[in-house]
Amino acid sequence: MAGLVIVGAQWGDEGKGKVVDLLAEQADLVIRFQGGNNAGHTIVRDGETFKFHLIPSGILYPGKLCAIGNGVVVDPKVLTEEIAELSRRRIDMSGLRISANAHLIMPYHKLLDHAGESQLGKLQIGTTRRGIGPCYADKAARLGIRMQDLLDEKILRKKIYTALEPKRLMLRPFAKDPELDLHTMSEEYRILGHRLEPYIADTPPIAWRVIDQGGLVVFEGAQGALLDIDHGTYPFVTSSNTVAGAACAGAGVGPRSIDDVWGIAKAYATRVGAGPFPTELDEALGERLREAGGEFGTTTGRPRRTGWIDLVALRYATRINGFTGLVVTKLDVLTGIDPLYVGVRYLGPEGATFDEFPYHQSIVHKVQGDLIELPGWHEDISGVRSMDELPANAQSYLEFISDYLDVPIVMVGVGPARDEMIWTGAAERLRPAAA
Ligand code: GDP
Ligand code: IMO
Ligand code: MG
Repeated sequence: MAGLVIVGAQWGDEGKGKVVDLLAEQADLVIRFQGGNNAGHTIVRDGETFKFHLIPSGILYPGKLCAIGNGVVVDPKVLTEEIAELSRRRIDMSGLRISANAHLIMPYHKLLDHAGESQLGKLQIGTTRRGIGPCYADKAARLGIRMQDLLDEKILRKKIYTALEPKRLMLRPFAKDPELDLHTMSEEYRILGHRLEPYIADTPPIAWRVIDQGGLVVFEGAQGALLDIDHGTYPFVTSSNTVAGAACAGAGVGPRSIDDVWGIAKAYATRVGAGPFPTELDEALGERLREAGGEFGTTTGRPRRTGWIDLVALRYATRINGFTGLVVTKLDVLTGIDPLYVGVRYLGPEGATFDEFPYHQSIVHKVQGDLIELPGWHEDISGVRSMDELPANAQSYLEFISDYLDVPIVMVGVGPARDEMIWTGAAERLRPAAA
């Protein structure tokens, strides 16, 4: 196996960080390929919790090559803070590489994100307000500033000047904000560039080398399929392609370098921010899932909306990503909820039913999940390490999902800790020695 892509199969926060951390032991390179610090990837190791926003979830292995690919948008302030914090915790950062072509989140991107959301009022997307959308917009408009620009003071200042001028109009309410001063901004970014310089690199050749030598590259996705800018519930999406296909463009490798695509899905569903959510739960049970699953945003702390697993959306995610394997996380959170429900089709207005994810926004916004009931289980499953030790009803629940999607389940999460994972068939060979 040369290339394994790990992507979110739902609305983000499926547990990608934990899975990437586990697979990283066998990997020669872990590379993030899209998104920015809107992501929050959690790893729990020996009772210690790490939350990564930009740094790939493989960094806990000393010296492991971990790259931030060209497709990522980098807030250099957040990145330097993340590096400093990890260094303080004695994590070896020598394997970190940052693509010279990655675009930078600038102070005006964050202000624009805030302003855009305020203007939308009740219609707001509920972004993380980290400047992600405006940064990708500048990238497409060819007004972006890249990591490599930090290394040349003159170019940096010139590019900031060019990008900043059109923003002034849009940001009139912030006109006096010192963050918008050309000199202050150029100076701040020059200093940040100086700090990040040791990590800046030409990252695609690093990936090519690993692939040529028959090594393993783990491509770490952020967000999830339904937040994809093309295939998600637009406009309630993030501003990048989150699907597996984006791994190639965002890391600089061809599709032939990808052998496997694993989708990560919770055993139920969550969404943070606004937008359609057909299997969303009512207050009491939704709250119970939120509490049991600790469903509060890793990045913003916002309570996550909760619902039953939505197999219509998951089958759609399977197709747009081409999953070769599915990782089901947080099965333990469902313990004690009996019966359980799974969404198997959508019910629309006037008795319409949908077996496939509808493309039309006004339909997606109105549908509700048509649920079928499955029996739950009450045994504590956090100590279970093989499929056949799971309660029969938990096995049936997983089988139902796998059969519906026609994708094999490769791992099952039964708790947040590293070892709280069931490794099945395909995943076994990638199992770290200690897990
Ligand atoms: P990511 O953005 O996809 O990496 O996911 P987040 O880190 O934002 O959210 C997943 C949360 O679930 C984190 O707090 C993890 O520690 C936790 N988690 C991951 N897998 C499991 C699991 O199998 N069971 C339980 N109970 N928690 C899990
Ligand atoms: P990880 O990688 C969950 C959501 C935001 C909002 C929408 C757009 O941890 O799974 P943005 O700031 O990207 O412009 O916000 O996308 N969102 C996420 N939701 N997990 C994430 O990342 C997310 N990143 C963005 O809540 O609805
Ligand atoms: Mg997250």
